[in-house]
Amino acid sequence: MSDAKVAVVTGAASGIGRSVAQLFAQNGTHVVVADVDLEGGRKTVDTIQSDGGQAIFVETDVSSPAACERMVQKAVDTYGRLDYACNNAGIAGEQNLIADYSIEGWQRLISINLSGVFFCMKYEIPAVLKSGGGSIVNIASILGRVAFAGAPAYVSSKHGVIGLTETAALEYGSQGIRVNAVGPGFIQTPMITGVISDPKMKEQIVSMHPIGRLGNPEEVAELVIWLCSEKASFVTGSYYSIDGGYLAR
Ligand code: NAI
Repeated sequence: MSDAKVAVVTGAASGIGRSVAQLFAQNGTHVVVADVDLEGGRKTVDTIQSDGGQAIFVETDVSSPAACERMVQKAVDTYGRLDYACNNAGIAGEQNLIADYSIEGWQRLISINLSGVFFCMKYEIPAVLKSGGGSIVNIASILGRVAFAGAPAYVSSKHGVIGLTETAALEYGSQGIRVNAVGPGFIQTPMITGVISDPKMKEQIVSMHPIGRLGNPEEVAELVIWLCSEKASFVTGSYYSIDGGYLAR
């Protein structure tokens, strides 16, 4: 059995998750690419394998506890252990004010963006403990710290992800699991294609980032991999902004 570390990355068929999966693999970690998108997930695995890395795809809907349990089991069955997780799967959801926000839209978003992170950690933590400890990084958002009109469910879910992250850090710190949240500003991924396709809107959003541009998924991946590395051995229960200065305004 190889002594390589093993990571699960949810939402790894696209955007930030794909970059995180690729960077883990470039560092010699075996990766479980989990997503509802089969085609995109397999593409991520193909890219990793053609670069000489090791990865498998596991079809996973993070809003299903049973699917999250299966995902972790598949990681352990395939690679023998679990050391790291990046709980990244998420959706932008509806854009509506609270009074107009649909009940179904609220429930769907919360079930993916917030309950999904809970379901993943619920099954990842015992597996990571069995491996002797490790690191979990949950992808929150600038909107886990501040509000955004028209996105009540998204903002609530990301604030919840930070609270859940801090709770997990308190609960498992003494057993060798570090748990942190990363809060990206607007990152160029398919999630925001709709928003930035209008040049005026794009300009307005860019202007909220003092650095003067949007972020790239590769930049977020660098932070996730650092948080999982031994270089971050005293970092837990933290929220790390990676937002071009958005929250500093
Ligand atoms: P993306 O849309 O490119 O990728 C999201 C991935 O999650 C997709 O592959 C999608 O199939 C998957 N997914 C959706 N629902 C799922 C489910 N129920 N189970 C499993 N997988 C599911 O989006 P992006 O931008 O890469 O987003 C990744 C994370 O980063 C999300 O949690 C998002 O909220 C967060 N984020 C993104 C920002 C941005 O500006 N792009 C800013 C701040 C946070």
